[in-house]
Amino acid sequence: MMSMNILAKSIGGCLLGVVLFTSCGKDPNNPGKQFAPNMYDPVGYEPYKQVKKNPFNPQGSNLFLPVEGTVARRNYKTQFGEGDSVSRDLMIYNIPADSIEIASRVLKNPIPKTDAVLAEGQVLYQRYCQHCHGASGAGDGKVGATYKGVPNYTSDAMKNLSEGHIFHVITFGKARMWPHGSQVNPEERWKIVHYVQKLQKGS
Ligand code: HEC
Repeated sequence: MMSMNILAKSIGGCLLGVVLFTSCGKDPNNPGKQFAPNMYDPVGYEPYKQVKKNPFNPQGSNLFLPVEGTVARRNYKTQFGEGDSVSRDLMIYNIPADSIEIASRVLKNPIPKTDAVLAEGQVLYQRYCQHCHGASGAGDGKVGATYKGVPNYTSDAMKNLSEGHIFHVITFGKARMWPHGSQVNPEERWKIVHYVQKLQKGS
């Protein structure tokens, strides 16, 4: 009787072991048993996470392919000014954050400096920079007074900063200055650059 009991127990243990092992499959994409699947898998149609085929989209994916005739961003050219031959792409900026030297050397402002562009640059500057850098670029904006360390654009160290350098600083920030690339698009950045260059000359 005793031995039967032990036998039954060990068979039971083996079975439990088999059940435990088989419940974890080897397939790395299979999450196994989920306690509450809709806590893990989105119920709505998410663009970047998809568990089931989307029945409403011909490709079966949640994301649609771009419509025919769509122009890729890198091929999008923007031209400025009358008779101006600029065909440089303003929408894409490939110089990495740690390469300010390259930016200063190679980047040229593709937007012609006109009164209208300067006026637009000024409005953008007032909106995004003036609270730190001050109306004349002296570093005396109201936020600058508390934030500290905002330079004067006309100082010896700042007055000769190149247009590419300034564009890069607006895009990625520098030291205590935060990036502004997500607030202003490249076209707006170049307009601000024209205005900052005016302030560098103290005019
Ligand atoms: C929150 C305050 C703040 C705002 C807003 C701000 N800046 Fe700055 N900026 C700074 C500070 C601080 C520095 C000094 C960075 C350092 O070297 O620590 C600086 C430095 C700079 C420099 C000099 C970079 C160098 O090479 O030393 C330029 C050019 C500049 N800012 C342009 C701009 C422009 C253009 C805008 C608006 C799009 C702007 N900043 C918005 C605080 C600000």
